[in-house]
Amino acid sequence: MTIRDILCYPDPRLSQVSQPLTVFDEKSDMLINDMLDTMADAEGIGLAAVQIGVLLRVTVININEPLVLVNPEFKVLEDTMHCDEEGCLSLPGIRAEITRPSRIKVKAQDRQGNKIKLKAEGLESICIQHEIDHMDGKLFINKLTPLSKAKIDTPLRNLIALYREKHQQN
Ligand code: NI
Repeated sequence: MTIRDILCYPDPRLSQVSQPLTVFDEKSDMLINDMLDTMADAEGIGLAAVQIGVLLRVTVININEPLVLVNPEFKVLEDTMHCDEEGCLSLPGIRAEITRPSRIKVKAQDRQGNKIKLKAEGLESICIQHEIDHMDGKLFINKLTPLSKAKIDTPLRNLIALYREKHQQN
């Protein structure tokens, strides 16, 4: 069991675009195991590989049961939008209301590289879209209006200060 460090905002790696996973081997298996362990340890419901500094399109989700999605893509099933409060392990202590399409269909690969398809709604749909955003270098705070972003200005500044402190020790 390996718990990896979770990168926090404003780590620049969180803004990078992840690449598809193409080789399914012991190494990718180990990455996925570490991600599942790290997510469980942090009591999160979703984690993308970029959050542990690995720029590959891999995510683990734990809503009802652990789900591994490799190279996921989604299509919106209907126009209905859903607004809910989101949080992120890379933005500790910050939550904000985000609007996203409520029902989606997802194409992905499992941890062995087999193709999988699924439909998702509610929290699972939100979580999958949130994780795919991570793979494209986006955090939920990028979706906020200036007014909603102003409301979380203080905790964001605190995270920036913490990051600077941690990275300017030498
Ligand atoms: Ni997140």
